[in-house]
Amino acid sequence: MCGIVGYIGESQAAPILLDGLSKLEYRGYDSAGIAVYDGENIRVQKAVGRLKVLSELTHDGATMPGISGIGHTRWATHGAPSNDNAHPHYNQTETIAVVHNGIIENYLKLRKRLEQKEYQFLSETDTEVVAHLLDYYYKGDPVETITKIMHRVEGSYALGIIFKDHPGKVYAVRKDSPLIVGHGKDGNLIASDVPAVLKYTREVYFIQNEEIAVLTKENIGFYNVDGEEIQKESTTIDWDINAAEKGGYEHFMLKEMYEQPRTVRDTLNPRIKDNKIVIEELGMSDEEIQAIRKIHIVACGSAYHTGVTAKYIFEGMARIPVEVDLASEFRYRNPILGEEELVIIISQSGETADSLAALREAKAKGAKTLGIVNVVGSSIAREADKVMYTWAGPEIAVATTKAYSAQLVAEYLLAVKFAQVRGKITEEEVGGFLKDLQKLPEQIEMLLGNQEKIQHFANRYIAAKDVFFVGRGIDYAISMEGSLKLKEISYIHSEAYAAGELKHGTISLIEEGTLVAAVVTQEELYKKTISNIVELRSRGAFVLAVTNAGNQEIEKAADYVLYIPQTNKYFTNSLAIIPLQLFSYYVSVGKGCDVDKPRNLAKSVTVE
Ligand code: M6R
Repeated sequence: MCGIVGYIGESQAAPILLDGLSKLEYRGYDSAGIAVYDGENIRVQKAVGRLKVLSELTHDGATMPGISGIGHTRWATHGAPSNDNAHPHYNQTETIAVVHNGIIENYLKLRKRLEQKEYQFLSETDTEVVAHLLDYYYKGDPVETITKIMHRVEGSYALGIIFKDHPGKVYAVRKDSPLIVGHGKDGNLIASDVPAVLKYTREVYFIQNEEIAVLTKENIGFYNVDGEEIQKESTTIDWDINAAEKGGYEHFMLKEMYEQPRTVRDTLNPRIKDNKIVIEELGMSDEEIQAIRKIHIVACGSAYHTGVTAKYIFEGMARIPVEVDLASEFRYRNPILGEEELVIIISQSGETADSLAALREAKAKGAKTLGIVNVVGSSIAREADKVMYTWAGPEIAVATTKAYSAQLVAEYLLAVKFAQVRGKITEEEVGGFLKDLQKLPEQIEMLLGNQEKIQHFANRYIAAKDVFFVGRGIDYAISMEGSLKLKEISYIHSEAYAAGELKHGTISLIEEGTLVAAVVTQEELYKKTISNIVELRSRGAFVLAVTNAGNQEIEKAADYVLYIPQTNKYFTNSLAIIPLQLFSYYVSVGKGCDVDKPRNLAKSVTVE
């Protein structure tokens, strides 16, 4: 996720671009850049780091005179944060500049073709192909050129473009990435999100997929993919400027929960090609995958919980032994590692001190290492032998939701891939798994639509003192995450327990009315968990069950039931966690807690 802006009007563009970008920093903040037409040329200035570095470099825009320009705040996807990879990107003759939010999925193919036509690339980004492609098709008419590239580029994009030949105009186009146009009194603007323009105007056009906008000082024209002019209605924004940064959501956590369908899609789609799983970044031959003797998954917190789920899947599906360790324990137990072991380090931030230390320990002992990381160019991403990125975008809320979901999906893909290469599943089974995986985003969306029912239920537990989460197998892993979500943002004491283990001590804590959330998604374990539910209820527990659609049996045992749609037994975590995230969120809101910044916690734990 990145943020783009653009301006043309009566005022100096650079300060307005920088101000707009400051409202979009939540979308990315590893580097930033602006391009301004200075009356003769398009000048570009970029800086690595937060936006304030660029602001200082340009004296708040004063060193970049001109009344039209575009800007970008980056969250690296293709290529680490660096000056070369920061946007805007030029064509070779520096007569076109482009900023981009999204992912060009066929950029490698396009890059190869352009290189054959003598185009030279200065960055590792997918965006630079757009600048050269525009150059290649440009015959003097920008709209015609943009429509041509729209037919050739696959993936998602919101683009801001300026052409030296058309100095009085800013161009924009989108597909599957957000883009709005603001109609101001002394100029017009483009942006990835409304907050970037609210200081200048409240009259906004929401650009739809495959629509092009052409901005001049006074006017805005809209075109379709065939270059035909279209009419659009503007909307008057009446939100509060602070709320707008969260896209109208009350908290970043809520916004990020609602981003999960996109996150899952973005992590899956680029790795499924012609009904096959292609994880190019894995860089392992089939022989190397077959030679793996054991997998170690090492992580902290929620990332560790996804690892616990992955253990069940790798072992069940690919029949590879898996050990899962908390990173803070791993290095101190002197793990037995060698070159036939694969150590997978999972981390959203890529900077968690214990996970990084575990990675170094694994490398020192000669194991192969793979990072599953969200932040491109982070320490774990740089130091692991290979890295598989989760495309969740920046996660602002301390409590992880969308990065967690993206990690799960990355692990599913790896497990299916390994199972297939090791001959443990048939092609037909792979097809079935892929079908189920591709349904997940829609199913998550459906579950998120059920928030009112969960909010209502959560309101009853605002005063709870203890809550238990129980399950068996993968359901136990889901319970661990459900429990962590609740305790970290609502400060209610909560524990996750393997359902069968309760009677070995913990059941003595159950009192009249104690809430127990039972996760029951593994069909072969239904009966066993239902017996545990019965034991709990007979000691006074109030049991909320989260189970698969169709498991009506459970209604006789539990007090309250939430259903998730049918999916493969290995992927239920991605669905069952949604109501549990919503439950924690609404309990926290009901208690008046600081949802996005819970006490005593930091987003990235960089000390051991
Ligand atoms: O950045 P990482 O994924 O390495 O962080 C690991 C944990 O600190 C993190 O998952 C933490 O448990 C979350 N706040 C939970 O919501």
